[in-house]
Amino acid sequence: MCGIVGYLGKEDGAHVIIDGLKRLEYRGYDSWGIAASNDGKIDIHKQVGKIGGFDLKRDLPAFHGNICIGHTRWATHGGVTEKNSHPHLSCDKRIAVVHNGIVENYQELKTELEKKGHKFVSQTDTEVLAHLIEEKLKTKKELKDAVRASLKEVEGSYALGIIDREQKIMIGARLGSPLVFGLGKDGFYLGSDVPAFLEFTNKVIFLGEHEMVEVKPEGYKIINIESGQQIKSKIVKIAWSIEDAEKGGQPHFMIKEMLEQPMVVDKTVGTDPTELEKAAKLIRKAKKIYVVACGTALHAGLYGAYLLAQNNDLMVQPISAGEFPYFGHLIKKNDLVITVSQSGETADVLGAVRSAQAAGAKVLALVNVLGSSLMRLADGSILTKAGSEICVLSTKAYVSQQAMFAMLSAHLNGKPEEGKKALRAIKKDIKTILEKDNLKKIRKLAKKLSGVPNIYALGRGINYPNSLESCLKIKEVSYIHAEGFAGGDLKHGPIALIEKDVPVLVFSTNDQVQKEIISNAMEVKARGAYVIGIGPENNQVFEEYLPVSANGFYTPIASIVYSQLIAYYIALEKQLDPDKPRNLAKSVTVK
Ligand code: G6P
Repeated sequence: MCGIVGYLGKEDGAHVIIDGLKRLEYRGYDSWGIAASNDGKIDIHKQVGKIGGFDLKRDLPAFHGNICIGHTRWATHGGVTEKNSHPHLSCDKRIAVVHNGIVENYQELKTELEKKGHKFVSQTDTEVLAHLIEEKLKTKKELKDAVRASLKEVEGSYALGIIDREQKIMIGARLGSPLVFGLGKDGFYLGSDVPAFLEFTNKVIFLGEHEMVEVKPEGYKIINIESGQQIKSKIVKIAWSIEDAEKGGQPHFMIKEMLEQPMVVDKTVGTDPTELEKAAKLIRKAKKIYVVACGTALHAGLYGAYLLAQNNDLMVQPISAGEFPYFGHLIKKNDLVITVSQSGETADVLGAVRSAQAAGAKVLALVNVLGSSLMRLADGSILTKAGSEICVLSTKAYVSQQAMFAMLSAHLNGKPEEGKKALRAIKKDIKTILEKDNLKKIRKLAKKLSGVPNIYALGRGINYPNSLESCLKIKEVSYIHAEGFAGGDLKHGPIALIEKDVPVLVFSTNDQVQKEIISNAMEVKARGAYVIGIGPENNQVFEEYLPVSANGFYTPIASIVYSQLIAYYIALEKQLDPDKPRNLAKSVTVK
C-alpha cells in the first residue's frame, strides 16, 4: 500500500526521504516520487518501478532541499505511470502533495476546479488535493487553514504529506489511513509507519483521526482538522531498534522473520496477565462472539475460533472482514467482535469495527502495531508480540496471533500455566524445525515441488486453518496454484483435482482425529497424490514426513512453520523475491 515520508530540517532532506521510502518498500508499490523545496522552488523526481537500486548522489546529485516529501504508490486511480506517481503539484507549483487513501468525490471536485481554470496532468484522485489547496489559498492566508478548508470538502480517506515552498511549512493530516509524526534532533519527520524514520528518531506522535500536524523549522502544532483547535498529544518512545526492522544478516526478511518465531512465542508467554484478563472480561460478558480479519490474520482468527470452541466451549463465528458488511446488521449490543490484524490498519477490518461499534457491540483487537488505528478504536486490545514484520508475507505475526489465542484460551480456563507450558514446548519445537539440517531437508523438498502447477493441503478441526494458511503462503510467494481444504470436504469436490504426483500436505494428529485424516491421506494417495505428512506421528501413507511434537490444540502453532519454509524455498528455487511478491501489499488500507 502507498507509503509516505516527510522531512523538515537540514538541507540533505532528500536523503532522508529516499532512505525512508526504501524502508517502506515492504508495503508494496509500483512507482515512487519525491519533492524537495529549495531556493523558492519545488523540484520533483518520479520513477516507475522499484527504488531499491536508486542512489541519490549518483543518480540525482543536484537534488536537495530542507523540506521534502516522498511517496511509494500502489496504483488505484490511474495507471502505473510517472505522471500518476506522487507528489502532485498545484498549477502554480507552490504546493506539493503525497497521499495514501482515496478521495471518493474526486471527480466532482475535479470538475469544479477545472471550471475555475485548474489544469490537471494526472488521472489520480490525489491531484485534486493540490489544486483544491491552491484554490483555498486565494482566500485563506495560512496553509493550515487552506488545508483544513479543503479537507472539509473531501469524502474518503487520507494520510497526507503537504509542503509549501512559500510559507516553508510541511503539513501531515490523517483520516482513515495511518500517519506518524517523528521528533528528531535534526528535524521533524512524517511516515506512514515508524520504520520510515526510525533511523533518525524513536520519539513519535501517532496522529489520530481528523488530526493534522503543522510543522515549521521552529516547532510543530497538532491540530484538530474539524475544529481547528490545538491538541496536546502524547510523545511515545518506540522500543523497536532499527536492526529489528532490518534483515539481521539474513538474505531476506522472510527467513529472518521465520527464524525469530521461537523468540516471538517466548515473548507471548510473557504477556501481562492483566492484559489477558481485560480481554477475558470482554469475552465472558459477550452474548455472541465473532472473529473478523483478513488474509493470514483471518486464518489465525479461524484457529482462535476452533481453539475457543474446543478448549473453552465457546461458539465463535469467523467472518472475513471484507464480507462483514453483509452480516453487520445482525450484530447487536452485548455482542463481541474479536479482530486480528498485524498492521491494525486494514481498511476492511476498520470498517467492520466501526459498524460493529455503531451497533453497540464491543471490539477486542489482537494487533501487532502499537498506536495503530485498530488499537485506538478497539474497546480492548492485546498487543501481539511479533515485533516489526517487514516481509509482505506474514509469518511470525501469524504464529504470534495463534500463540496469543493460546494464552487467552488458557487464561479463560483459569489455567494460565497450562498455556505457558504448551507454548514453551512449541518454542522448542519451532527451534528444532528451524535447525540447519532440517532447513536443508525442506529445501530439497521445495526443489521437488517448485516445478508443479498445483499443491493442496488437508487438515481437520484445529488443523484446518493451517491447511488454508499453508496454501496462502505458497501461492503468495511462489505463484503456484495452491488450495487448502478441510479433510471432510475432500469428497465433496476437491478429490476430483487429485491425479498422479499432485503434492498434498496433510496435517495429521495423534488423537481421535488421526484415523479420519489418515483416511483422507489414503484417499488422495490411492489417486496418485504425493503425500507429505506433517504431524506428531509418522505413517506409511506419507512419502515425506515432517515431524512436530504432540502439543494438543497448540500443535498447529509449530506445524505451520514447515509450510512457511516450503513456500520460502520454492520461491528461492524459482528465483522470486520472497519479500515483495508481485501485486501484493503488506497493509491494505483501501477497500
Ligand atoms: C494483506 C497482507 C497479508 C495480511 C492481510 C491482513 O493481504 O498481504 O499478509 O495477512 O493483509 O493484514 P493485517 O495487517 O490486518 O493483518
